[in-house]
Amino acid sequence: MSDTPVQRDTSTTAAVIPAAGRGVRLGPGAPKALRTLNGTPMLIHAVRAMAASRSVSLVVVVAPPDGAAEVASLVDEFQLPTGTEVLVVPGGETRQQSVALGIAVLPASVTTVLVHDAARPLVPVETVDAVIETVRNGAAAVVPAVPLADTVKQVDPRPDGGPEPVVATPERARLRAVQTPQGFDRELLARAHATVTGDVTDDASMVEQLGVQVVVVPGHEEAFKVTRPLDLVLAEAVLARRRANHGF
Ligand code: CTP
Ligand code: MG
Repeated sequence: MSDTPVQRDTSTTAAVIPAAGRGVRLGPGAPKALRTLNGTPMLIHAVRAMAASRSVSLVVVVAPPDGAAEVASLVDEFQLPTGTEVLVVPGGETRQQSVALGIAVLPASVTTVLVHDAARPLVPVETVDAVIETVRNGAAAVVPAVPLADTVKQVDPRPDGGPEPVVATPERARLRAVQTPQGFDRELLARAHATVTGDVTDDASMVEQLGVQVVVVPGHEEAFKVTRPLDLVLAEAVLARRRANHGF
């Protein structure tokens, strides 16, 4: 790893989309990434969001372990912008395993990798491009993030369901809610996945554990994660607003 910024103008950028989760918090039904928003599966929205960037030439979809064939036929069925190749691979039991399985099939030519949750189907292309540009300008790890609306309390969790004592209140102005796509130098991301163990909820935290600097760029309110049933309502409202404003 060099300390001087490296210009990666000739780099190939790929996006890995972990889409293998069940979506337990969304409730019973199909795996979350296959649930539809305005008739189109969430993971297709997510693939289109990545392919919308002119810099992204390959998208790797990490499908539910028993659903790779179904996902591959969905990718064929729904129209995607030309010039972007899509690969589908089966995922694993955890998000980390799924991302690692996606990284494993990247061709050697790929130097910049985005990792993007299928559960964030509506991220605008401006956010995708901002992440890619920051990596190409020399940052090894980049996350989009937004300020918090809520005050956050650290608590002492009580598995018995009793009232949880508050331990601390971090200063809200210094906190950010982190989104995806997160962008990485390919070698760094591969090293993080090869060496860091333990439960993590994003890829950047694995890079942090290697002691490498992660930087933040502005995220977007439309890059929210579809997690609970109300998020489906919000996502369809965003699509309706886009249709009203732009005719699509
Ligand atoms: N993911 C994955 N493989 C897993 C678990 C999660 O690829 N074994 C993906 C999900 O498909 C999702 C992203 O990681 O796109 C973020 O995870 P999350 O929002 O937690 O989705 P789920 O794990 O599916 O939802 P839940 O935690 O409610 O079950
Ligand atoms: Mg999950």
